[in-house]
Amino acid sequence: MKRLAIFASGAGSNAKRLIDYFSGNQTISVALLISNRKEAGALEIARKAGITAINFSKEEFYNSSTVIEKLTSEKIDFIVLAGFLIKVPDNILKAYENKIINIHPALLPDFGGKGMYGLNVHKAVIESGKKESGITIHLVNEHYDEGRILFQAKCSVLENDTPEKLAARVQELEHQHFPEVVEHFISEKL
Ligand code: GAR
Repeated sequence: MKRLAIFASGAGSNAKRLIDYFSGNQTISVALLISNRKEAGALEIARKAGITAINFSKEEFYNSSTVIEKLTSEKIDFIVLAGFLIKVPDNILKAYENKIINIHPALLPDFGGKGMYGLNVHKAVIESGKKESGITIHLVNEHYDEGRILFQAKCSVLENDTPEKLAARVQELEHQHFPEVVEHFISEKL
């Protein structure tokens, strides 16, 4: 059994999709959800599904070994970032090299980097005049949004799009593809 930890900062719709998808799976289980925001909807979603869900402070993430100790004691094999909006600390990156997967709500390498999350991304895409956006699922390294791309899917940017409308179209793609791409990546390592 491969054990996943989900890291999430927000509402948790992708966390929910992952939890539902892997529930009852014979080889992959979501064992832990970690957040950097105690108000994150993702914490509640995980708790309702019976998954250990913990909020850690910035201090604990960056200036202590509390988080990595938890990942080790829970025997976590892979980490999935599902709307995790702070940088993964170096000690975790090192311990989980090529084992951290992120989803980004645009077609990298465009519209990535620091500050590019949530509606900021969709605003930038609309302002650029691009006719297509989409999702990128990629491995995480020490540079924001620059790790190896595992999967991309595209959608149109429409004439009268608002960041909110585009976000909804992109989220549909996320929910449709993220769990399967995670499963496929992990299955290749079994
Ligand atoms: C998702 O759209 C994800 O792609 C994005 O945050 C959202 C979280 O939504 N991540 C980033 O912008 C990372 N740079 P959710 O909490 O409903 O899953």
